[in-house]
Amino acid sequence: MDRDRFDRSETEWAAVRERLREILGSEETVTFVAEEEGDLVGELLAVPRAPGVVGIGVSVADGRRRKGVATALFAAAAVWARDARIRELQLDVQEANEPARSLYGKLGFIDTGRRRPGERGPVLTMTKSL
Ligand SMILES: CC(C)(COP(=O)(O)OP(=O)(O)OC[C@H]1O[C@@H](n2cnc3c(N)ncnc32)[C@H](O)[C@@H]1OP(=O)(O)O)[C@@H](O)C(=O)NCCC(=O)NCCS
Repeated sequence: MDRDRFDRSETEWAAVRERLREILGSEETVTFVAEEEGDLVGELLAVPRAPGVVGIGVSVADGRRRKGVATALFAAAAVWARDARIRELQLDVQEANEPARSLYGKLGFIDTGRRRPGERGPVLTMTKSL
């Protein structure tokens, strides 16, 4: 990760690492991965936020974007979510992240109107009911 892009102190990085360890170590977190010829090219995490509600995080490798990888990851996650009786998907996205907002809009996520300040501008919450 290019840490210079984030204006974080070492203490804040330690908190981020700890939170990631918690998420990845939790048996409740479900991870979907996309591979191409053995390379990891994308991942989607589904993290429980409340009963029947999961928060989603997704990322596709630079150079492998705009080829439907994220769309495929969401399709796999949607199948799992229905089986797991998840009723709502939530995600937080930077308002300025046009690629992600375009993707989520296409997938049927709705802007809740909720905004909170983020390190790189406002962050909005989008949801999708299943
Ligand atoms: C956002 C991201 C996950 C999209 O992944 P992807 O595999 O490229 O997405 P897809 O190929 O499935 O794209 C589906 C749709 O998303 C939108 N989209 C994706 N990349 C876009 C871009 N650079 N500009 C505008 N729209 C874009 C388009 O609507 C696209 O459909 P189209 O190609 O038919 O126009 C990827 O750009 C990424 O990893 N970005 C960095 C990490 C990030 O921002 N994660 C989200 C944090 S909330």
